[in-house]
Amino acid sequence: MPQKEAADTATARNLKARPVQLKDGRRLCIVECHATRETTQNYVPEEGIALLVKALMQGFERAHVFTTTGDFQFRRERSGQISVRSTRPTFVAAPSLAHDRSKQGREALACEPFLQRLGVTLADGSPRAGMAAKLRQVHRFVEILGHLLADATLDSSRPLQVVDMGAGKGYLTFALAHALRLKGWDARVVGVELRPELVDSGNVVARDLGFEHLRFVAGAIGEWQPEGALDVLVALHACDTATDDALFQGVQAGAALLLSSPCCHRELRPQMRLPTTLSPVGRHGILLERQAEILTDALRAELLEMSGYSARVFEFVEPEHSGKNLMLAGVRRSDHGGDGEKERESFRNLWSSFGLRSQRLASLLGEQPE
Ligand SMILES: C[S@@+](CC[C@H](N)C(=O)[O-])C[C@H]1O[C@@H](n2cnc3c(N)ncnc32)[C@H](O)[C@@H]1O
Repeated sequence: MPQKEAADTATARNLKARPVQLKDGRRLCIVECHATRETTQNYVPEEGIALLVKALMQGFERAHVFTTTGDFQFRRERSGQISVRSTRPTFVAAPSLAHDRSKQGREALACEPFLQRLGVTLADGSPRAGMAAKLRQVHRFVEILGHLLADATLDSSRPLQVVDMGAGKGYLTFALAHALRLKGWDARVVGVELRPELVDSGNVVARDLGFEHLRFVAGAIGEWQPEGALDVLVALHACDTATDDALFQGVQAGAALLLSSPCCHRELRPQMRLPTTLSPVGRHGILLERQAEILTDALRAELLEMSGYSARVFEFVEPEHSGKNLMLAGVRRSDHGGDGEKERESFRNLWSSFGLRSQRLASLLGEQPE
């Protein structure tokens, strides 16, 4: 894994190589991490090794080789001589030779400069102290986005209009812009954030790193309005009813894809009356809290279905990595699948079983039972 000298940033900053077994035989898979993109190519082993040696001789300063018998660090000295230092092996088992594209993708993403600038990773792509969970969240988000984009009906004749509501420091906004660019989309991404200092710092990083079509704007969810069409709306960890405000904006704008990760469900718990069969739930505060969360997100999912979306609820990140681990997504149905009466009926049944009085998304959509 040679590392580039700081002065030379025009080409690859890092090269990562690993053996893979392909149909045609053993190959050396080399990932080049550039400032704003990454490329992957498989080489016949001798060619790949020659390329790495050349890279070390012409511009890179160091290379690390990991084997099951020892680690070797090659260093190009000022004199041009190469010195070698060996240490105990980091890995005692040989890695799988399977051609794991998703792993490659994760490794390449971790090398992205935006993650370094935002303080998530170090130069070698490893997470900074305390940022491993955030890095996993970014990886997972990019994976999920890829699957959902493939399911959504998007207009490819014009730039894709994307908004991230409550963008915060912009970790996921940058990941969104980066992933769309890698997928070849001409996307205009806006991060809407209440705190002006985060808006400013996000815009500085976007400008420095050449994210021409990403901008952060100061504003509140529910008040910000798209200038034209809106294709993808993201609202991750928007607190309590801010998720409802964001989903409503997406539905109203007819966005093809909605991605939310609801948190801080406060609205229903004080008004929720448990059906008799669930009374044991009421004896434990934590269960009551979970019940209110489930109820809120089940109602939101039904409301999306009633509004012409196919709703999907799944785990965003593994629960052991974050308490905020639910993803509620909506993919707009192209056929608008009926008039939503079936879902409306189950929504109303659920509503009355818990004696509810108000829920923000239901109210905004004009679906709140009297
Ligand atoms: C928990 S952070 C989540 C940030 C980011 N979406 C993520 O998941 O990493 C919530 C962010 O939303 C912002 N925020 C809260 N309410 C908002 C509102 N009504 N409009 C816009 N931004 C809001 C906060 O300032 C904060 O930066």
